[in-house]
Amino acid sequence: MPSGVSFFFAKNGKDEYLTGNIRTTKDTKSAKNCFVLQVITFQRNEAMKQIEVGLGDRAYPIFVQEGLLADIGADLKERKIGKRYVIIADDRVAELYGQAVVVSLEAVGLACDLITFPRGEENKNLTTIAGLTSRLAQLGVDRKDCLIALGGGVSGDITGFVAAIYMRGIPFVQIPTTLLAQVDSSVGGKTGVDIPEGKNLVGCFYQPRAVYIDSTVLQSLPPEELLNGLAEVIKYGVIYDADFFYFLNAHREKIQALDLSVMEDVILRCCSIKAEVVEADEREADLRRILNYGHTLGHAVEAESHFTIAHGMAVAMGMVAVNKIAVAQGILMAETAGEITDLISSFGLPTTIPPELNRQQMKEFLKTDKKTVAGKPFFVLPIAIGTVIITDDVDDAIIDGALNNF
Ligand SMILES: NC(=O)c1ccc[n+]([C@@H]2O[C@H](COP(=O)([O-])OP(=O)(O)OC[C@H]3O[C@@H](n4cnc5c(N)ncnc54)[C@H](O)[C@@H]3O)[C@@H](O)[C@H]2O)c1
Ligand SMILES: [Zn+2]
Repeated sequence: MPSGVSFFFAKNGKDEYLTGNIRTTKDTKSAKNCFVLQVITFQRNEAMKQIEVGLGDRAYPIFVQEGLLADIGADLKERKIGKRYVIIADDRVAELYGQAVVVSLEAVGLACDLITFPRGEENKNLTTIAGLTSRLAQLGVDRKDCLIALGGGVSGDITGFVAAIYMRGIPFVQIPTTLLAQVDSSVGGKTGVDIPEGKNLVGCFYQPRAVYIDSTVLQSLPPEELLNGLAEVIKYGVIYDADFFYFLNAHREKIQALDLSVMEDVILRCCSIKAEVVEADEREADLRRILNYGHTLGHAVEAESHFTIAHGMAVAMGMVAVNKIAVAQGILMAETAGEITDLISSFGLPTTIPPELNRQQMKEFLKTDKKTVAGKPFFVLPIAIGTVIITDDVDDAIIDGALNNF
């Protein structure tokens, strides 16, 4: 166990997981370890294809169902979330699925508008927020109305943020349409936009009222977008659930062929894990940080590539690189690291950081990452498949070794 580990996470065989703080000193022989362990139990009924994110009076359901787009209107009507609805989507998703959602709402007599913004991360900014909030005001939207985030993580982050700040907060629901959004960004309530100084630097925590996931929309997703999401899917297996990791291995061909029944199982498991993590630590004080596995280095790869390397690809490279750190620290067996690399590459994700990316510059990015404290980046390191630790105590030489090992 390296010194300076601040957080520990493990899961037992009985639907229970353990979290704890561990403090160690450099001298492991004389260290007085202090464990604060907390057991949290959970129960899920995955057969119903419905998950509840248990956040007290802000709890909300996640529905996963083939063809769900057509039924969303009926469910919203029953839930009475809004007097009227405004769907916010990027131009591409609006063209593909905007009308289907409008029809679903109008069929049950719900009034709705569809407003759009130009697709792409470069439009996840304050200018888009200003435009959308003005549009809502022009439409006469008030606090009894509800926004619908239709699209990938960009639409979700933008719409959630608009919902949080328009009239000091109005309700919103999520209809995620990329795999990344279905397994990650639509759950957990992180919203926000980028500014020139950095990604996601302006935003807030604001939970949706419901998340509606229709697996059929994945059929129109470009293959590279599917891969982006798959990197996050593999992440959940490594950080939290060994059974799920081996499930992914066993069902790889069906996942790649987009077998919707298997995809729904995958999405449900990922959402369950994210829900459990968010329930335990909504504001990322400790447990939620495990979701950053592969991301500390991944963000540096993205930044150093000037965002020409997509997030999922960068996270895949980041996961392999931090595993090398874990092996060098003596906390992960090289064979286990190899198993993770094999799964990542079997899905067609990259496992090496391109040699042309400047390692020194990447280390500078590590120091200035928004989650870095006092210039020391933290790393989520697996100690086995399904169990990770978080530490900021990694020698420079070990980081260099992991970055230069290609
Ligand atoms: N809030 C969170 O917790 C969280 C977590 C992870 C990532 N994010 C954010 O998510 C964003 C990335 O999300 P993304 O990868 O979904 O990107 P995105 O929303 O830009 O979608 C990617 C592309 O796919 C298109 N698209 C979406 N659904 C489609 C479909 N079904 N068929 C065809 N095309 C479709 C979009 O028009 C877009 O061009 C980043 O801004 C990231 O910061 C947020
Ligand atoms: Zn990610």
